[in-house]
Amino acid sequence: MQKKIKIFDTTLRDGEQTPGVALTIDKKLEIANALSELGVDIIEAGFPINSESEFQAVRKISKEVDTTICGLARALKEDIDACIKADVNLIHTFISTSPQHMKYQMGKGEDEIYEMAISAVEYVVDHGIPCLFSPMDATRSEMPFLIRVCKGVEEAGAGIINIPDTVGVMYPSAMREFMARIRKEIKIDLDVHCHNDFGMAVANTLAAVEAGCNQVQVTVNGLGERAGNADLEQVVMALETLYKIRTNIKTKRIYPTSRLVERLTGIRVMPNFPIVGDNAFAHESGIHVHAVLKRAETFEPIKPEMVGAKRRLVLGKHIGVHGIDVKLKELGIKVNQKQLEEITTKVKDLGGKGKRVVEEDLIAIAEDIIGMVPREERRVELVDLVLNSRLGKKPIASVILRVDGKEKKATEEGVGPVDATLSAIRSAIGREEVTLEEYHLDAITGGSDALADVTVRVSDGKRTTMARGVHEDIVMASVIAFLNGLNRILKL
Ligand code: KIV
Ligand code: ZN
Repeated sequence: MQKKIKIFDTTLRDGEQTPGVALTIDKKLEIANALSELGVDIIEAGFPINSESEFQAVRKISKEVDTTICGLARALKEDIDACIKADVNLIHTFISTSPQHMKYQMGKGEDEIYEMAISAVEYVVDHGIPCLFSPMDATRSEMPFLIRVCKGVEEAGAGIINIPDTVGVMYPSAMREFMARIRKEIKIDLDVHCHNDFGMAVANTLAAVEAGCNQVQVTVNGLGERAGNADLEQVVMALETLYKIRTNIKTKRIYPTSRLVERLTGIRVMPNFPIVGDNAFAHESGIHVHAVLKRAETFEPIKPEMVGAKRRLVLGKHIGVHGIDVKLKELGIKVNQKQLEEITTKVKDLGGKGKRVVEEDLIAIAEDIIGMVPREERRVELVDLVLNSRLGKKPIASVILRVDGKEKKATEEGVGPVDATLSAIRSAIGREEVTLEEYHLDAITGGSDALADVTVRVSDGKRTTMARGVHEDIVMASVIAFLNGLNRILKL
């Protein structure tokens, strides 16, 4: 097997053909610079004949980016001239060789196609520019004709031949066999370009490498026509870690490059996308978190740092005490075992209700629980709450409390549900001197399911205390804050 594979990146050409993507010259240049820093061997910067702005983009990239820059050209003089004018240092010329393309797209027979391929390669070579040749739709071409064309362009001076699986119809064992047949006949380097129509672009690319291919065409985030091209991140990391084949890629630059391309193209990376998706190194289940924190390889095939990503512990219904403990330590929040268990229960409970608990929520929950009077020392606790709130009527709240072990009930109305509930609590405990001096409400994170964070100042005339309550329901956050304050006052 080859020791090293060259990475040909076509994010700026096939990748830009992703429906809905159109990059300005500046954005193309920014991506080209990032690809160069990433260490790709060749950047296919565009198709210069396509438009004036495309031509300008390729020319600017050729001038300013210190990597081999390739331009695409049909097997036509004017296309090749546009590449030469754009000052590229590699020309990728192509012509279709499959029966359906030759008949319906080109309207030409085999001999004419053959002549055009040879002439195009000779024209590039005569200009002293290295030439990459692609028989488009190679994988649906008749093998004898494909070999005839490949041998012809090899003789004409092409430096490398690319085998495109233009409509993504190959599968790994077929690709291995197909590429091996071409490998037997052709001496120069071989390249492969796979589309992902059946989700096999990466596997087919690797199969081509197994059959002796020396270069692979890929795009960042798998962008490209229709379902896209073979994904750079997956191909490179599979080569490096599974096949132990080297590339020139600085793998730590993979994640930042993927994010840059995501931002500039506007095409979001799926959370479950391998290597660079949000979930690629995320762990939620208590069992996984526990094991990964002990030894990463238990549930991670590679370390996230290797591709410039970070491990993420997800605060959801599957999280365990261990994961919360680590997260709190990361945030510099100290808790005792009981508080840790209470925080974990609250996070799991919120997760179970479908709420995405983010760091800010965890901080508020933790601060709320740390500030609470310990459960066994609480003199007042809420047993039940019924709220009756009708349009145009004052809300009525009925509460049942446990005060020093005895049940107390009260019903009150108020200007709003919070006011009615807090009034009912005050009536139930029978301490009219207890007042709510201040009330402040914050939503921790955006959205109508954001956690409500209530801070109150409670006084009984002699003593005053601040307290906090966090809950997904505003009334409950207010009740928790008020009871927190009450329990603190009763303890003083
Ligand atoms: O998919 C394809 O065949 C191409 C060629 C231009 C190589 O993109
Ligand atoms: Zn393509």
